[in-house]
Amino acid sequence: MLVAGNWKMNLDLAAARQLTSGVVSAIGDPSPVDVAICPPFVDLDATFSILHGSGIRMGAQNMHASESGAFTGEISAAMLRAVGCHYVILGHSERRQIFGETNAGVSEKTIQARKYRLVPIVCVGESLDERNAGDHESVVESQVRESLEGVAIEASSELVLAYEPVWAIGTGQTASGDQVEEMHGHIRDIVEDLFGKEIGVGIAILYGGSVNPGNAQDLFSREDVNGGLIGGASLNAEKFAAIVAAAKSVQ
Ligand code: PGA
Repeated sequence: MLVAGNWKMNLDLAAARQLTSGVVSAIGDPSPVDVAICPPFVDLDATFSILHGSGIRMGAQNMHASESGAFTGEISAAMLRAVGCHYVILGHSERRQIFGETNAGVSEKTIQARKYRLVPIVCVGESLDERNAGDHESVVESQVRESLEGVAIEASSELVLAYEPVWAIGTGQTASGDQVEEMHGHIRDIVEDLFGKEIGVGIAILYGGSVNPGNAQDLFSREDVNGGLIGGASLNAEKFAAIVAAAKSVQ
């Protein structure tokens, strides 16, 4: 089980320090659940110092696929590694929709992240129109296959996927347990096909989209749901800790 908080573009340095301290004390010992928080780039260094020794890991929300050089405004995998990141969220639907990221671009970033031993959290998910048209399974299948094109891993722990239906992100409208279970089963089949059964069966597939302390336990107890990617509720230490507790209860 992995519970990762995606802070998005929220919290300046002082607020990030405060929330990180709050999360560390509200969660206590995270084990046996893997817990991570993913603050904005400028908060990473300070966050890492506060997380030190807590057992809670850190991730970034994006990165550039190139090594270094003339890419004004971008951040490399090596930089994320150097500042203490374990994870990096790639291909979040906000990146895809607002910043035009493509599956091919996500695959380049995923390959680069692995080169620096970061664990990519690769996000996929259909829009409401795609679901209403009955295309959700094929859309997500192409996203998974194309976003992971050329990606090689040697162990399940080297890659995480997150299923985040676009219509459930930040809307308060969660996908039903049955919808989640169905899609996670589909994604499981695809990763077993891509990486072999032995590795594919152990890859964590997170659900994201309006997870909160009230619905987390039901979602996490579903087949092939191995944790959550939490947006809004991760900005509150008590709520985030309650979601981690829900993961512990079904682990
Ligand atoms: P939400 O966001 O929990 O606020 O719906 C999830 C995400 O975008 O990762």
